[in-house]
Amino acid sequence: MKQLIIISITALLLFSCSKNEPPGWQYPDMSKVPAGPSGDSIKFGKELISHTNIHIGPYAENPAKRFAGNNLECGNCHIGAGTQADALGFVGVYLYYPEYSGRVDSVIAIQQRVNECMRRSMNGKPLPLDSYEMKCIVAYYKWISSEVMPQIAKKLDGLPKLQLMYRAADPNLGRTIYNNKCNTCHAENGAGAYTEGRPENGFDIPSVWGIDSYNDGAGMYRLMTAASFIKSKMPYYNANLTDEDAWDVAAYINSKHHPHMANLEKDFPDLKMKPIDCPYPPFADSLSAEQHKYGPYIGVK
Ligand code: HEC
Ligand code: HEC
Repeated sequence: MKQLIIISITALLLFSCSKNEPPGWQYPDMSKVPAGPSGDSIKFGKELISHTNIHIGPYAENPAKRFAGNNLECGNCHIGAGTQADALGFVGVYLYYPEYSGRVDSVIAIQQRVNECMRRSMNGKPLPLDSYEMKCIVAYYKWISSEVMPQIAKKLDGLPKLQLMYRAADPNLGRTIYNNKCNTCHAENGAGAYTEGRPENGFDIPSVWGIDSYNDGAGMYRLMTAASFIKSKMPYYNANLTDEDAWDVAAYINSKHHPHMANLEKDFPDLKMKPIDCPYPPFADSLSAEQHKYGPYIGVK
């Protein structure tokens, strides 16, 4: 009996470790969402994150709701609607906004942060702050943050930190990795796959570059973010890259064409706050744009 208990405790520990969840990563089950209008907003918030393109994508039925500029889903990057700690999770996010943002050099509300992803990751327009969609997304954030202790909320989110390289990440090496490990899903031209081949149906597999992808102002366009995300989750269901391969394949997808966002030079009014891997000028240091984009980052700053 005692042995059985020890075995089940070990199994439990192994299970929770394998999910890469930090202690405190807790969120309520969707089946507990209350009935009525407030519960409906939580459910629709999750639906918007999981099936973004149907509701606010370029082919949304109501033209007035076509806010996103591409057919990605928020959940393509915030995997599992933000329930996974190592894939840009949202658990606890409601608790630590308003929060300072270096990109605008001021404290921003959670709604403004959503709109940063609308304009960049989704290459589109901001959602009006008083729209039903924005209210529902925020209601969902509040719900999945409701079991988190405020003191630890900020520490919960995060992508793995990769070993920095002494050389620049190399798109040519990355091409080989991509063609061995990614193109079966994301396609050789990076365009992913639409359901039944039709963009209005949305993606089965999201694009990783090209006109229907995130723009060059997005977090995923930064090498460190892309490499960490890829290391953490790709190839999907079988993430097995070395840190070095993750750097190179991230360099490859970001060496390809992404839509351009206007006025990027106005980001990070205080240039000292600009992350080293932010690839567009101006810069506070004298490193080239090339080095900002591909590294190496070792020994600088
Ligand atoms: C192409 C990938 C991608 C897509 C699609 C995407 N995001 Fe993000 N999002 C990111 C990345 C990367 C970050 C973190 C950026 C950074 O390093 O600050 C982020 C951060 C956020 C944050 C801040 C989280 C925090 O912990 O502070 C919110 C909120 C957010 N996204 C909401 C959304 C919503 C809502 C959508 C859909 C409308 C969306 N995102 C679509 C990549 C994406
Ligand atoms: C088995 C199919 C599969 C393979 C192989 C795969 N991916 Fe993905 N990838 C996906 C799916 C599906 C998503 C969206 C996840 C979701 O919505 O839950 C995704 C999401 C992404 C995203 C974020 C969303 C976007 O499109 O910008 C990036 C970046 C990415 N993959 C890069 C890669 C790289 C690099 C590799 C190779 C190392 C790779 N993937 C291999 C299926 C795959």
